[in-house]
Amino acid sequence: MKMVNILAGNRIVRSLQLLLCCLLCEAGDETLTLQEVEGTTITLHTGITGIQSDAQILWIYGPEKAEEKILNSQVFKGETVTETSERFKERLQLDRISGALTIRNISRNDSGVYLFQVLTGRFSSRTFSVRVYAPVSAPVIINQRGKRSVSSTEPCFLLCTVENGENVNLSWYRENERISITNNTDLSVPLNLPLQIHHDNNTNTYICVSANPVSYKTSSLNTTQLCYHIPEKAEELTYADVNIKAHTAERDKEEENSRNGC
Ligand SMILES: *[C@@H]1O[C@H](CO)[C@@H](O)[C@H](O)[C@H]1NC(C)=O
Ligand SMILES: *[C@@H]1O[C@H](CO)[C@@H](O)[C@H](O)[C@H]1NC(C)=O
Ligand SMILES: *[C@@H]1O[C@H](CO)[C@@H](O)[C@H](O)[C@H]1NC(C)=O
Ligand SMILES: *[C@@H]1O[C@H](CO)[C@@H](O)[C@H](O)[C@H]1NC(C)=O
Ligand SMILES: *[C@@H]1O[C@H](CO)[C@@H](O)[C@H](O)[C@H]1NC(C)=O
Ligand SMILES: *[C@@H]1O[C@H](CO)[C@@H](O)[C@H](O)[C@H]1NC(C)=O
Repeated sequence: MKMVNILAGNRIVRSLQLLLCCLLCEAGDETLTLQEVEGTTITLHTGITGIQSDAQILWIYGPEKAEEKILNSQVFKGETVTETSERFKERLQLDRISGALTIRNISRNDSGVYLFQVLTGRFSSRTFSVRVYAPVSAPVIINQRGKRSVSSTEPCFLLCTVENGENVNLSWYRENERISITNNTDLSVPLNLPLQIHHDNNTNTYICVSANPVSYKTSSLNTTQLCYHIPEKAEELTYADVNIKAHTAERDKEEENSRNGC
């Protein structure tokens, strides 16, 4: 599968490849999940075969419920007449034997409910719920305070951030265990998830993961780059340095005092 750059919520679609999550809902709630890249094609399989050659076949679509005829195929005096809606234009193709509907170049706008009906002969119908998602963006880890290194007693304040989208979760994992997760239905703001790391945990592996129902992306925390805990030894040096300065200051003060005749 090719990786993708898409700016969700933005008309500028750099590489127009969407992933499709297709849920097939019928008697028994059988669910079929498909992942597709936009520009290619999906087929909604009805699970039946041998539809009468003169049967009328309908496909009905709607973003929330099926209400708009998008394909109507009938036979008049031996001639098959198939009409498709303006919305799908040339993108639909029907297999009259199984009733399967092929949709080319699927986009997020084609998400919704698809209802299949055979009206003549043995009546049949099937309902499909199709969700099309853009692949999730990659998370980015930053140090919230811009301090790459801290003393061994201070924590590092890190932040994982990702562009929000439909059904996106953002999580932190320590070793292979999820330690926090967030999501937000307001898609206009990025998802943010903070993490504090203490010295004693600096050797653990931290991974930030963004996920939606059809894809996930990860970013590993490089502690050398973003959260370096200065070892004890370096700290002692700093402390000694401060002591020397303090002594010097005291001596200066004494000298000053003696000059003042105290
Ligand atoms: C696929 O659809 C998009 C709009 O959703 C359009 O810009 C693009 O030209 C189409 N590609 C093909 C190959 O038809
Ligand atoms: C999806 O629909 C919206 C609003 O109807 C439209 O602005 C947008 O261009 C459409 N996108 C595609 C890829 O067809
Ligand atoms: C968002 O998180 C809540 C609880 O944290 C969870 O119940 C819900 O399923 C999540 N939504 C999505 C789209 O993953
Ligand atoms: C360090 O990590 C362990 C698990 O590896 C965790 O139980 C503990 O709370 C962490 N301590 C701090 C100070 O973050
Ligand atoms: C997001 O998190 C919720 C709650 O843990 C979970 O039910 C859902 O499946 C997650 N969604 C994704 C896309 O990982
Ligand atoms: C972490 O960052 C440092 C400094 O930029 C780099 O030298 C090192 O290769 C990185 N480690 C990993 C595992 O990417």
